[in-house]
Amino acid sequence: MSENVFETILENRCSQPQQLIEVLQDVQETFGYISEEAMTAVSKELGVPVIEVYRVANYYKAFSLAPRGRHVITVCMGTACHVRGAPRMLDEVRGQLGIEPGQTTSDKMFTLERVNCLGACALGPVVVLDGKYYPGMTPNKLRKLVQSVRQAEKEVAADA
Ligand code: FES
Repeated sequence: MSENVFETILENRCSQPQQLIEVLQDVQETFGYISEEAMTAVSKELGVPVIEVYRVANYYKAFSLAPRGRHVITVCMGTACHVRGAPRMLDEVRGQLGIEPGQTTSDKMFTLERVNCLGACALGPVVVLDGKYYPGMTPNKLRKLVQSVRQAEKEVAADA
């Protein structure tokens, strides 16, 4: 972690214990995840026990304790989505990417996550890619969606 960037994050806050979540949000946004090093530094700066920092960082889905891929695919496995075929969506992504929920592909392109409800039950099965909701998903649509991301990445790499 860049110490200067981290100092800036803390300077922008008042280093008060009640700002723990805001500081963790800043760290997540800046680095894409919250490392052990970051948790230790936040603990020290805010005067919050490191176990509490870990508890909060581990509790909220918005925080990641490991680096995420450039694209995050979230498959809802809640009851409403489950009965509409969510397990087939999860199998499709697993098959295409060769990873399990919570894992990131070796090229750091994709992270796969699963959640228990996205609050859009009537639209299931729902998959979220990089924050965008895709309702009524099918394995075929999902395959094309992943392929379109791969294609877009190839085009960006070719232009660079
Ligand atoms: S169960 Fe999937 S959105 Fe609610």
